[in-house]
Amino acid sequence: MKALILSGGKGTRLRPLTYTGAKQLVPVANKPILWYGIEGIVAAGITDIGIIISPETGEEVKAKTGNGDRFGAKITYILQNEPAGLAHAVKIARPFLGDSPFIMYLGDNLIQNQLDPFLESFKKHQLDALILLRPVQNPSAFGVAKVDENGRVLQLVEKPKVPPSNLALVGIYFFAPTIHEAIDQIQPSPRGELEITDAIQQLIDQQKQVEACNLEGWWLDTGKKDDLLSANQIILDSCIVASTELKVDEKSQIIGRVQIGEGTEVINSTVRGPVVIGENCHIENCFIGPYSSIADRVTMIDADIEHSVILQGAKIVGIHQRIVDSVVGQRAQITKAPPRPKALRFMIGDDSQIELV
Ligand code: TTP
Repeated sequence: MKALILSGGKGTRLRPLTYTGAKQLVPVANKPILWYGIEGIVAAGITDIGIIISPETGEEVKAKTGNGDRFGAKITYILQNEPAGLAHAVKIARPFLGDSPFIMYLGDNLIQNQLDPFLESFKKHQLDALILLRPVQNPSAFGVAKVDENGRVLQLVEKPKVPPSNLALVGIYFFAPTIHEAIDQIQPSPRGELEITDAIQQLIDQQKQVEACNLEGWWLDTGKKDDLLSANQIILDSCIVASTELKVDEKSQIIGRVQIGEGTEVINSTVRGPVVIGENCHIENCFIGPYSSIADRVTMIDADIEHSVILQGAKIVGIHQRIVDSVVGQRAQITKAPPRPKALRFMIGDDSQIELV
């Protein structure tokens, strides 16, 4: 069994962060989203992993993630020259996949469940494809499945205007090598992509064994800001344990589950967990509220935040209103607001969003 993780794509929904970086490397609780997927795959006993990368962000993904040693895996990088669809990614990975069955994992998805039970079911029933489904409120935004009472998949449609059910396809699939023939038979969709849903539909039409399992735990597709913040909240809630030896000055107060990295100074500040703060940060006269993740080398002085993700090297100084539900990009700066500002002065990148509430 091999694994194929898709870490290419355009990432339009997470702009502007994705102008300068891969969306799969955006941190959730200070760890790249992609790494949660790799760890889940390795935990299910699969160590031969191919990662699809794009020309724009591939080098960054490679440099950060490495050859797999840190995960106990062997990683092969596969360049996809353009984001021509999920089935296209499988097509170009064929030399890596060979005749092996494989799990396909979208690199921006996070799930709570372990993969083992699904893998067992896929092997035991000798399926051509096993898909995971989750009821959602807005099925039109997803690939949607119609399933009979035995879990057999009858129909799949990509982002349907009139959805046949409320069951969305989670970005994790199990395939036998028969998927390659199915992909050879499909054509690009109206949006110009080779769709994996079309390839699976092809298997269904050929009476192959395609089944679905319901995902009981949470599933997050971190491709948008609010999903990213939800993922951050859930991971901080479930993974952060209180650290006993936190180095902060005597005027600071640490409440609840908080982790602070090496070389970080916390001065005259209150940190209320769950919170994770990276290495070599400077936090002074701040309130850091629950569900905040602060990456390495961040400076925060005279500022309040809560339920936010601050990326590496960002600087927030003199902001007296509480910053909430925010994502601040690498090296971005938000500085000095007097109690009643007369004017606001910005230098903001394309597609940035600022809400004064
Ligand atoms: P999507 O989130 O569907 O696509 P995207 O990355 O282009 O994002 P957006 O809609 O915001 O523009 O892709 C799901 C995952 O698959 C994501 O990790 C990127 C990856 N992917 C590829 O590797 N190759 C592709 O051709 C496509 C379409 C996606």
